[in-house]
Amino acid sequence: MTNEEIPNLTAFDEAALDKAFAALEKQARDAAAALNGAEAVEAFRLHWLGRKQGLLKDVSDRWLKSAPADAKKLLGVRFNALKAVVEGLLDQALGAGPSDAALAAEAIDVTLPGTRRLTGAEHPITKTQNEIIRVFAALGYSVGVGPEVETDYYNFESMNFPPGHPARDTQDTLVIANQDRRSQRDRLLLRTHTSPVQMRTMETQPPPVRIVIPGKVHRNEADDATHSSTFHQVEGLCVDTNITFSDLKGTLDHAMKALFGSSVKTRLFPSFFPFTEPSADVQISCIFCGGKGCRKCKQSGWIELLGCGMVDPAVFAFAAEKQAAYDPKKISGFAFGMGVERIAMMKYGISEIGQFYAGDMRFLEEFV
Ligand code: DAH
Repeated sequence: MTNEEIPNLTAFDEAALDKAFAALEKQARDAAAALNGAEAVEAFRLHWLGRKQGLLKDVSDRWLKSAPADAKKLLGVRFNALKAVVEGLLDQALGAGPSDAALAAEAIDVTLPGTRRLTGAEHPITKTQNEIIRVFAALGYSVGVGPEVETDYYNFESMNFPPGHPARDTQDTLVIANQDRRSQRDRLLLRTHTSPVQMRTMETQPPPVRIVIPGKVHRNEADDATHSSTFHQVEGLCVDTNITFSDLKGTLDHAMKALFGSSVKTRLFPSFFPFTEPSADVQISCIFCGGKGCRKCKQSGWIELLGCGMVDPAVFAFAAEKQAAYDPKKISGFAFGMGVERIAMMKYGISEIGQFYAGDMRFLEEFV
């Protein structure tokens, strides 16, 4: 085939080159558009891309080689672009995807960084919860869970809050509607604490028991900077022969040191919970001021962190209905319950509890 289509180039400035290549491109596009059938496609391929006599080879031979040195680059760029177009047209005609050259011409920059997919990470509440669990797991405690929708019996009655007892008022309870036909003990509510899982554990497992129970709890109260109507607790229960108040004290002192650092001191303050007797609030020396007194500890040097006490014999009596081994004459035990949000807020210096639930990645990424 002769290549009359290729005129001689007389000017090598950019405008002249653009014009010359545009004319060739138009020629190729027109020819490709008119292709009908495999033979025509093959003829198109030979005509444009044929190794020995193809038009592009001719362009390369005559234009590139005759170009003055300073125009070679301008010409080369346009030549490669035209080649990519022609190959693309051929691929299209063959029903194939774009050629490598056509893809390259789309200016994919393989040196750009790839799309980074973030690996999942623990939510700060989960992370804190797991930290607490690890401290007790190392002491031989197992881990249990219970239902969030709980009966009046487990949440209150078996924990020694009798029906109508004023202690129930301290736990602003969200109850499930339309249960008038049920007896009081079977009425459902959202558990206000993880303590009912103490009873569920004892009913299914004879002593000795050492267990921690993490979980979500609910209270009917207004959200503010430090309160949320849904929050998390970790409950603890230890029952065996000869468990004493000093075991409770030593265990919690160790746990607080493990969680907040070995220089933290603990002290117990008399308190009341229906399910423990005696009951105590655990205070730790203020981790912000070291006990000197600051705004966070209201100048007292101490921060109240959790509730605890010796399991009330009345609670064992309820457990003994299902597991006779919980005879308060033979065994004793202690229990404790702590708020995970509160501990996380102290550990990480967070002042707004709502940050845990807002799902703001800028906050969550701080804990990765
Ligand atoms: N259930 C209590 C609450 O939510 C916390 C608590 C206090 C749990 C003392 C205990 C305990 O097991 O012994 O306020």
